[in-house]
Amino acid sequence: MEERDLTTDVWRIDAEEFPADAPLAERARFLLRYAILAPSSHNSQPWEFVVEDGRIEIHAVEERWLEAADPDNRELYVSLGCAVENLCIAAEQFGFDFEIAYHDDAVPVVVMLRPDSDTSSHRPPDLFAQITDRSTNHQLFRDESLGDSVRDELRDCVLEDDVTLELIDDSERKGSIAALQAEADRLQMDHPDYREELGYWMGIGALGDSWLKARIGQAVVTHLDIGDREAKKNSKLIQSTPVVGVLTTNSDDPSARVKTGRVFERAALIMSSNGGAVHPMSQILERPEMREDLASVLDGDGELPQQLFRLGYPQEEQGHTPRWPLEKFLVE
Ligand SMILES: Cc1cc2nc3c(=O)[nH]c(=O)nc-3n(C[C@H](O)[C@H](O)[C@H](O)COP(=O)(O)O)c2cc1C
Repeated sequence: MEERDLTTDVWRIDAEEFPADAPLAERARFLLRYAILAPSSHNSQPWEFVVEDGRIEIHAVEERWLEAADPDNRELYVSLGCAVENLCIAAEQFGFDFEIAYHDDAVPVVVMLRPDSDTSSHRPPDLFAQITDRSTNHQLFRDESLGDSVRDELRDCVLEDDVTLELIDDSERKGSIAALQAEADRLQMDHPDYREELGYWMGIGALGDSWLKARIGQAVVTHLDIGDREAKKNSKLIQSTPVVGVLTTNSDDPSARVKTGRVFERAALIMSSNGGAVHPMSQILERPEMREDLASVLDGDGELPQQLFRLGYPQEEQGHTPRWPLEKFLVE
């Protein structure tokens, strides 16, 4: 499957088409149509699924791993976790109970579906509808704080052991994080491999740009010195955002990162259900030495920051980025 197969058609899923009487594997594949709408770093969609009856293995795909941006695989496994979360929410919606096994090897996650469950969901019911509505907001947020009830929903959604969410809204700490972001942007944009990799994903249209804009974007990122420009833009985005969220863990293995991804996607869907959005910003965490600097700004329980993101209410509605069709991700 080629870059031209990237499509936004995948966002139009008719839940009425769920094949309720079909074999378990076919029902599982229907649920995976929701999984692939998950966010991923550079929209690289680094997942693959092996379905056998109600058993779904979720694999990380080396071919779509961001070697330059993500040498330690953090974003890879966080992205997988986002897809796992969508899968689980869809499973609950269509009446499945499920069990998840996390591993720190070649098959990091296995989801076992059990049909005909009458257990009620422990998540707010409207999160399912948000799977097809959510999008990342890369632009400024409105100057509007998050209300107490949204903050409570966000705090309550952290169900995984070893994952902590810290919400930061004081200007001093936002200023410190903005300064780290600016430094990280300059350092990352100084690396030809990083720029080339980002340019590749932009150029194939993965970030949702038109053909022409994608090609111009690729040329600019790959060949021009835009470190300062990115630093200024992103530092302003952080300083002006109502809230910065940071998810931390104490362990640093694939399981901890997959769990981080699940919580991150849940938070994104909660924001979406409240008319808001999130925006992950990864450059600080892509620099091992700066990860420690970020940790020193936090006062939560977790020692290792795994995902940093802005939260707020977008000034303008965002369109959907494309995905490859599900068939690309199904392996025997
Ligand atoms: C682990 C992870 C890291 C990400 N890092 C960044 C980032 O550093 N900057 C950014 O603008 N978007 C980042 N994103 C957002 C992706 O670009 C976005 O999810 C992808 O383009 C798909 O678009 P959508 O979320 O609107 O569906 C990240 C997403 C994930 C899951």
